[in-house]
Amino acid sequence: MHLKICALVVFVAMFAGCKKAEQERTSSVTTQDFGKTEKGEALSLYTLKNRNGVELSVTNYGARVVALKTPDAHGNVADITLGFETAKGYEGANPYFGAIVGRYGNRIAKGKFKLDGKEYTLAKNNGENSLHGGLVGFDRVVWSGRAEDVGGVGKVTLTYTSKDGEEGYPGTLNVTVTYTLNNNDEIQIDYLATTDKATVLNLTNHTYFNLAGEGKGDILNQLMQVNADKFTPVDAGLIPTGELKDVTGTPFDFRKPTAIGARINDKDEQLMLGKGYDHNYVLNRTGSGLVQAARAEDAASGRVLEVWTTEPGVQFYTGNFLDGTVAGKNGVHYAQRSAFCLETQHYPDSPNHPDFPSTVLKPGEEYKTTTVWKLRTVQAAK
Ligand code: BGC
Repeated sequence: MHLKICALVVFVAMFAGCKKAEQERTSSVTTQDFGKTEKGEALSLYTLKNRNGVELSVTNYGARVVALKTPDAHGNVADITLGFETAKGYEGANPYFGAIVGRYGNRIAKGKFKLDGKEYTLAKNNGENSLHGGLVGFDRVVWSGRAEDVGGVGKVTLTYTSKDGEEGYPGTLNVTVTYTLNNNDEIQIDYLATTDKATVLNLTNHTYFNLAGEGKGDILNQLMQVNADKFTPVDAGLIPTGELKDVTGTPFDFRKPTAIGARINDKDEQLMLGKGYDHNYVLNRTGSGLVQAARAEDAASGRVLEVWTTEPGVQFYTGNFLDGTVAGKNGVHYAQRSAFCLETQHYPDSPNHPDFPSTVLKPGEEYKTTTVWKLRTVQAAK
């Protein structure tokens, strides 16, 4: 009898333990107030958490990634993206932390392009060039947002209508961006857009990653691998010259995992022009599906980030213009090279390079691209 009671007690305890573990592993979706813009527009913060404890926070101000918290090889969780804790930070001066960049990611030379015989003049915000959509790009507008749980998977959907003529671009453009965090620790970003007049479009996400954790030093020892035999060299204004240059024998060859800092100070003309890596890579691909663009690894923590995309290029940027003036989350000032960006995209200045893959979107067509960030771990170095 006594034995039977003991067995029952053990069984009940085990059942309760399993239930608790199951609850801890449940995914969740929350929507919180994220303050107001200076103009008084209400902002939200959407947080998706998956069963493995990965947590993605996104705001509808610029459709930005505000935080990405992920465990390392030992289970220690850190936020691996630069940014701020409040909306005020994002409204202040900052280099597109976490933002969706549009209409046109990266530069358009002299802020001009021709389409169907007509010349368009864009807002210039980078010397004589237009960068990342102009003075008020998609990173500085309020999107409509909603977060939901779709069969145990968290999803944030953001939409924005860009008016005909906004920042000089033709056509009313309807854009939808969705972030989905699945239980394989993958964040899928889907971009959709339609227009009512021919326009050019190149959307990307400008998250700054530090796999050791934001504010935890520089990224120079982190390993980078980029799946590209060629890149697009630039001129002094960081506009592509038009050449697709072979990376062989140059500091731009990342076909094998290489420390970001291993060659960054080489006396190489392109590195000097970019003050480090700030270049578009021509991805090796066959077909138009998802390919692995890049893989980054922090041996110390064991964190790995793989970036997959349907896009033809990726801008590898090593935070060269971060200069310690901006204090981010936890008050840490972000120094030069304290993060890297992998901005999946069409090549910069494509509207002025007929040889580059086209960025023209016409009425009746659908702009549709996908990028996936896969979070992984490998055994951490001792
Ligand atoms: C550009 C850099 C620029 C940075 C922040 C990158 O995409 O290539 O030149 O400084 O964004 O604006």
